[in-house]
Amino acid sequence: MSDHTQAKKITTHTLLQMKEQGSKISMITAYDYSFARLFDAAGIDVILVGDSASNVMAGHETTLPITLEQMIYHAQCVIRAVNRSLVVVDLPFGSYQSNPDIAVASAIRIMKETGAHSVKLEGGEEILPAIQRIVAAGIPVMGHLGLTPQSIYQFGTYTVRAKEEAEAATLRKDAALLQEAGCFAIVLEKIPAGLAAEVSRDLSIPTIGIGAGNPCDGQVLVMHDMLGINNTFKPRFLRQYLNLETQITGAVQQYIRDVKSGEFPSQEESY
Ligand code: KIV
Repeated sequence: MSDHTQAKKITTHTLLQMKEQGSKISMITAYDYSFARLFDAAGIDVILVGDSASNVMAGHETTLPITLEQMIYHAQCVIRAVNRSLVVVDLPFGSYQSNPDIAVASAIRIMKETGAHSVKLEGGEEILPAIQRIVAAGIPVMGHLGLTPQSIYQFGTYTVRAKEEAEAATLRKDAALLQEAGCFAIVLEKIPAGLAAEVSRDLSIPTIGIGAGNPCDGQVLVMHDMLGINNTFKPRFLRQYLNLETQITGAVQQYIRDVKSGEFPSQEESY
């Protein structure tokens, strides 16, 4: 048994303890077995099966088209690989906004059909009844405030949210309401670092930032962005740890050359 399979599993309580101890939480997205296996073994705390699968896996422009069935498929693939990390699954657009009964039914499907550990919903006060129903069903909920991509057509752009005091005040209030409703953590996406610092200080549950600066209790990045799989996406908040687009393109071009020249396979690579 390898070290990571013996390691203690991360739970929602672990994340709360990490906040109390001032220990930062690492979170990354994954959508399939192979990458989830690597991230879990590397020691990531939280794996998010994000509805960003709609963009990076399916090639859609927004996160709106992905379905509950497709999210369940991605979560099933991820969960098979995970020994230690906490797995959070996004409830996709349309699976929770209409009413709390639909929301809890969607969350139950995710938990039952995937074996994931929790769900994430975007929004504040307007989705509070849905969050309360899901929490009452015994399902851990992560909130998501700030730039909530499922509302992109309302926002119009992917620019920083809550720069003005009115929107910042709403966000502070929403964060408190989500905590009160029983959320175990909240993603803060693309908001000023000062506001994220205030919210992180005022809440007892952890905040996980993406484009929300250093004061958050943890950070999340989309795996394709941080691994440099698409070099054209370079927002200010992104730290790119690899340049896989260049490396993969080079490797595949070399393979093509080797096949065309007859250099591959060699005698050692043949039976
Ligand atoms: O879907 C996703 O990848 C997300 C992260 C950006 C937090 O919600």
